[in-house]
Amino acid sequence: MDAHGGVDLRVEISGISLQNPVLACSGTFGNGREMSAWMDIRRLGGVMTKAVTLDPCAGNPPPRVWETPSGMLNAIGLENKGLERFLEEDLPWLHDMGVPVWVNVAGFTAAEYVEVAREVSRAKIASALELNISCPNVKKGGLHFSADESEAERLVSAVKGAVDIPVYVKLSPRTGDLRGFAGAMVRAGADGISLINTMPAMAVDVETARPRLGNLTGGLSGPAIHPVAVQMVWEVAQEVDVPIIGMGGIWGWRDAVEMLMVGADAVAVGTLNFTDPTATLGVVEGIAAFMRRKGYRRVGELVDLARRGRSGAAG
Ligand SMILES: Cc1cc2nc3c(=O)[nH]c(=O)nc-3n(C[C@H](O)[C@H](O)[C@H](O)COP(=O)(O)O)c2cc1C
Repeated sequence: MDAHGGVDLRVEISGISLQNPVLACSGTFGNGREMSAWMDIRRLGGVMTKAVTLDPCAGNPPPRVWETPSGMLNAIGLENKGLERFLEEDLPWLHDMGVPVWVNVAGFTAAEYVEVAREVSRAKIASALELNISCPNVKKGGLHFSADESEAERLVSAVKGAVDIPVYVKLSPRTGDLRGFAGAMVRAGADGISLINTMPAMAVDVETARPRLGNLTGGLSGPAIHPVAVQMVWEVAQEVDVPIIGMGGIWGWRDAVEMLMVGADAVAVGTLNFTDPTATLGVVEGIAAFMRRKGYRRVGELVDLARRGRSGAAG
């Protein structure tokens, strides 16, 4: 608390204590170690790992990223070293950093999700799981689960039955009935919701008449999607009573505060890490300075603004 001049940045979600509400988004921060050359990751609220699948995954053919006005297209395609090496090499290292870790779990079938989740939970060193049912860049699994509410419900309850750490479900901006879907995930056992994943998107090089990405289509992230994310977080916050981690185009402290004010209990910074690997720490300091300037003493006071709206007091 003293480090931030009388402002208390701590938040507790799903029984996990975060020293501040700023995490790093899955897939934009490696598994922490890569970023530790640039910054002290122990100063973060938490780290959300790159997606982990049961077997190693080579990902999509290049090119895999393309910069767009105010955003970035990617089609990485869940490239990762697989569960076994993740458990041996990455998770213990992250745990030794003493920072809460959300392990992002993906799979090509429901059984794969469950197995990865079970093994990560069994290792007893992750704080929580983030179920990635919203990746637009794979042909099986991923977004497919977001398209079918009852399939997603079955997946969440199967994972819950296999683990003893909190399970967050990561939602896609493609979700049709967002409130209904978020509510269904909570009833199926989700301990928290994170949102948003990238928006399915595409760009074409007109000179060659070829798509910019090897996968043809990809997911849009960065400032271009921020207002979409704010609206979605606001909507979900009015529907569910579980913690929400808000993400999507956070490009500085102001965007993070905005996300908290519409009901996110914590936020995660993604694409910004590619332009400035130390940006997350600037967001932490910026939130603290804003709170000091405005006289807020606890992060929860910002989040309460949205909750008050929900109870109708604002209207
Ligand atoms: C290069 C890249 C890789 C990503 N990989 C994953 C992933 O493995 N799992 C996941 O759930 N989300 C992944 N995401 C989505 C981000 O975690 C985040 O939800 C999204 O990019 C929106 O936040 P941003 O606009 O701040 O980047 C990835 C995003 C990018 C840009």
